[in-house]
Order: sequence, then C-alpha cells, then structure tokens
Amino acid sequence: MLDSVSLPAPPSTSESDFLPINGTDYIEFYVGNAWQAAHYYANAFGFEVVGYRGLETGSRHETSYLVVQDKIRFVLTSALTPDSPVAAHHQKHGDGIRDIALWVDDATSAFEETVRRGARPVHNPEVLEDEHGQIVRASIATYGDTIHTFVERKAYSGLFMPGFRPWTNEFWHPAPIGLRYVDHCVGNVGLGEMNQYVNFYGDVLGFKNLISFDDKDISTEYTALMSKVMSNGNGRIKFPINEPAAGKKKSQVEEYLDFYHGPGVQHVALATDDILRTVNELRNRGVSFLHVPTTYYDVLQERVGTIDEPVDELADLGILVDRDPDGYLLQIFTKPVQDRPTVFYEIIQRKGARSFGKGNFKALFEAIEREQAQRGTL
Ligand code: FE2
Repeated sequence: MLDSVSLPAPPSTSESDFLPINGTDYIEFYVGNAWQAAHYYANAFGFEVVGYRGLETGSRHETSYLVVQDKIRFVLTSALTPDSPVAAHHQKHGDGIRDIALWVDDATSAFEETVRRGARPVHNPEVLEDEHGQIVRASIATYGDTIHTFVERKAYSGLFMPGFRPWTNEFWHPAPIGLRYVDHCVGNVGLGEMNQYVNFYGDVLGFKNLISFDDKDISTEYTALMSKVMSNGNGRIKFPINEPAAGKKKSQVEEYLDFYHGPGVQHVALATDDILRTVNELRNRGVSFLHVPTTYYDVLQERVGTIDEPVDELADLGILVDRDPDGYLLQIFTKPVQDRPTVFYEIIQRKGARSFGKGNFKALFEAIEREQAQRGTL
C-alpha cells in the first residue's frame, strides 16, 4: 500500500470520477458516555437504537451504539479504558465527530486512489467478516483529528458491520420524527487553512467547489467567517469548510476552535420533508434552537416571495427561509448539543433550492453572538 504513495499523480485532465460515492455511510461520534448519548439521540431526536458492541461482544476497549433514522446512521462510541484512543480524543475535544464515513463500492480503490493523490492514511484496507458476509473498510485523515472511512458493503447483508449485534429493548421504541438523510457536514478549520482543505477535497477526493462565501457575505458588526462548499460528483456529499475572518470580536469559528482544541465538524445538517412537524417534535423533546428576532418575519414574504408554509407557524418555531434560483429552503439551527460550544445541528427542508441559506447568515450570526455573549466569549 505505502509503495503506491510515491506513484505520480494522474493527469489532471481526467474527467472520470475516480472516487464514486454512494452517500454518507455513518457518522461516528466519540463521546464520554455512549449509552447516555444513545438515550439522547433516541429520546430527543427520534433515532432508534438498533446495534451495539461492547464487553458482551468481545470489544474490551470501546462501547458503541448504532442509532438509525431513515438513511441517517450515527455510531456513538466511548472508551472503556483510559488508554483507548477514544479516551484521548474525548479528553482533548469533548464529545465530537471522529469519522464521516463514506459509502463506496470499492473501499480499497478509494483508499489507494486518495492516498496516491496525497491523503494521509489512517487505517489500511481491512476485511471484516461474520456470518452475514464481508465489509471492507479503510480510512484517511482530513482536518484536525477527523477522518473519512471508506465503507464497502456490497458483500454484506447484516445489520451494520461485523462486531455489532442487534440491540433490542421490547419496551422502548422511540417514534421517528421525520429526519431522512445527511444533507451536509460543515468543518471548521484554522485561520488561513480553508483553501488548504478546499484543495484537499478538490485534488485528493476529486470534489468540486460548489459555492464560496467571503467575509462580505458572512459578517456582522462583530464577527466574520469565510466558507467554501465542496461537493462530490453526484452531489450526495457536501462539505462546507469554514475559517474565521477578522472581526472586532471573537468569531463563532474561533470559539469553536478554542473549545474543540483544533479543527473539527461544526454542524451536521439533517434533512426532513416536513420541517414544521420535525421542529415541533424536537422542541417537545427538549431540543433548544437559536432564536431569531420576530422582526425577521416582518419582511420575510417580501424577501422570499410566496411559500407553502404559514409564516406565523414558521415564526412560532423560529424557522428561517431563503430562496435561490432553483427554489427555496427552510432551515433552523440547534444550540450546541454537548457541554462545550462546539457541535450543533441544522434541520433543513429543501424545496428546490440547492444553496445553503446565504440570506439568513446575518440574522443567524447575530443570534449566535447573543449566545456567545452569554458564554462570556464576546
Ligand atoms: Fe449548514
């Protein structure tokens, strides 16, 4: 494998997709207490707990729960021993995302092609096997301590992957709340590092730059950031990359970098087909969202034109709307979902729009700044 690192890069004129990706396979979180995290995702977000690995399955150093809602798979992992790498990750970063795993048809090729183009290998290709077949997986590094695992599951018919067993509780089946798939995952990187990772996704994974935002698009009186959205060939994987820009006070990206102790995943956007229902359910289950001032809704229809949803219901829930040439989108952002002001969620419903809510950035950032001020960051 390592021999292939020194091979020359392929001609850059090649237009073929050397890294076909079927979608997000799973997102793995390293957390302090996987069991309690599983309860949170089940009870607050409507995920079903379906898989488990731990002492009873022969996993002596880590415990994981697999939670699922429609196409979204989260793996929640915590350390059983202080010398587990999961413990070291958690000590530094707190609860956070370790792995955005990508579903591919050929994990070995995905690994070799990306490493040949300059990716740092983390786990060489390995075959995991049980009575349900085979999984091939391999991992490369991205920003900070975050990795991408390529997962090949075409020869596997089991629940998730070898090592996991079904987890059942006859008394507890949280009702799904309409979350359907991962729309995008946003990374925060350090000052001046955005283009390095834009180039990484471009040169090493063959992604294209979909949209760019500079500090003129994304700034308030106090804070600013820059962002570029990278997308794979079929558009199923979208990774916006943020870096802080100079502002009068500490930006939300800098606050994240301080508390996460380095680059990492800032937010995961989860798609729904009925955002009014989904957000109502989340609120009823105790999930907190950023508040925008009610004045946002005074000029909403003027700004976005006719929409299907009643504006008063959107205002009650604090849901934001933006329009682009293809349609419109509805979105809302949770507060951070762990003690540190790091990872949060976006709930998004797309009605044609393929953009990211640029028209909402200002209102949104001012809402975040009010939260930052309460944390003593501003
Ligand atoms: Fe987003």
